[in-house]
Amino acid sequence: MSKAAIAEALSEARERTLALVEPLDDEQLNRVYSPILSPLAWDLGHIANFEELWLVQTIGGREPLHGELGRFYDAIENPRKIRGELPILRDEELRSYMADVRERTLDVLEGVEIGPDAEDPLLRDGFVYEMLLAHELQHNETMLQLLQGVAGYEIPQAAGHLSPGQASGQLARRFEYPPVREMPRGLDTVVIEGGSYEIGAPDRGFAYDNERPCHTVELAAFEIDRTPTSNGAYTEFMEETGAEPPLYWEREGEEWVDTARGRRAPIDPAQPVIHVSWDQADAFARWAGKRLPSEFEWEAARDRLDGLGHGWEWTSSDFLAYPGFAAFPYREYSEVFFGDTYKVLRGGAWATHPRVARPSFRNWDLPQRSQIFSGLRCARDA
Ligand SMILES: [Fe+2]
Repeated sequence: MSKAAIAEALSEARERTLALVEPLDDEQLNRVYSPILSPLAWDLGHIANFEELWLVQTIGGREPLHGELGRFYDAIENPRKIRGELPILRDEELRSYMADVRERTLDVLEGVEIGPDAEDPLLRDGFVYEMLLAHELQHNETMLQLLQGVAGYEIPQAAGHLSPGQASGQLARRFEYPPVREMPRGLDTVVIEGGSYEIGAPDRGFAYDNERPCHTVELAAFEIDRTPTSNGAYTEFMEETGAEPPLYWEREGEEWVDTARGRRAPIDPAQPVIHVSWDQADAFARWAGKRLPSEFEWEAARDRLDGLGHGWEWTSSDFLAYPGFAAFPYREYSEVFFGDTYKVLRGGAWATHPRVARPSFRNWDLPQRSQIFSGLRCARDA
């Protein structure tokens, strides 16, 4: 990306961030809606503080605008449940901080060298700017998780393509690389041949450290559902087993309704199910006589799959380092989360910006969590 393109993309991301919170007042921005989600004021300050840390302090060598303030926006030091009580910036002070940081960012950008030959790996091919853009857009999705619980909230038009059912086309286009192969139509499942598959992001181009290095894995032949699990199939599973409904579903007479954002919208049985936890997804797959795909199976099959981009798709995989992993540019992005605590999700959701979704992108969360826009698709050995 050229400097002009970076500046424009940064400004588009900011417009989207501000559009998302435009319908809310300061009290709503500061309110703690859920112990597992930050108040929106924290997200906004953190977005700006992360930008200041990387694009102004690290790249520009400048002093922070508010001294020690940054420690309250450190995501590792400050768990979500305490963020509402921190002495963070609020209201008008918060808005000016966001604007002041952005002004400095653009000033620093003018003076840096971002080409493929840049000596600093942070600047090479504009890495750090891509990282900051992705960071802000990923926080937009976290903010939307919280906004699902705000009664009466309507997503403003200016926030872009954000509505369930509309996003998938745009997001799916991000998955057409490498080119889409011929897909047999009219089949419920696709068979993926056993063999060697390249997994992970290529060396060039923006990706997070956990997507690298690109490496080969051997997979046995498997079958994977052509489409994600539907609300209808999930309802049948609940009725037969007494399983818990997805988050925001409530019974209304004989029917189920979706109560996200305070609505009572009928559940469309044909749409993919979202807001299910890994535990629910895994139980569903077993009930269906199948299993969740591993994240490698998912990646090997991704250009044969329909219905991408409605919800993230749970996989059976723990969030682990790829062989030869090297933390970059900081340990706290991925490395501290590796282990058997978190499960990997692949794909993307209606709330995911297309810039964030890519075939090698690995999302992760705790197996009991369902506030993320998470669904599933099933697989089985062939
Ligand atoms: Fe963050």
